[in-house]
Amino acid sequence: MPRIIFVEPDGSEHPVLIGSGMTAMEAAISRSVPGIDADCGGSCSCSTCHVHVDPAWIDIVGRATGMEEDILDFAVNAGECSRLSCQIRITAELDGLRLIIPEWQR
Ligand code: FES
Repeated sequence: MPRIIFVEPDGSEHPVLIGSGMTAMEAAISRSVPGIDADCGGSCSCSTCHVHVDPAWIDIVGRATGMEEDILDFAVNAGECSRLSCQIRITAELDGLRLIIPEWQR
């Protein structure tokens, strides 16, 4: 079972085991990870699940495209490695993925 790690701005880590096929947002919500609210329930329309992908992982995870990219235009402090965690579907190759929670979401 893949394990992903949510990292708070102060460096606190929240490792979460997640079944393949679930999204990173669903993993965060299941463990009440602070800063991931997911107000729209994963329909790619709110940006309250915004995370920064650890740069070491961005080529494996892939960058935002299409509607996700449009929504991120409205997110505070979005950057090159920003993703909506509801759009990151977990696979075995993402075991060890680190996702950083933006400061303003805490
Ligand atoms: Fe709303 Fe991800 S949960 S955009």
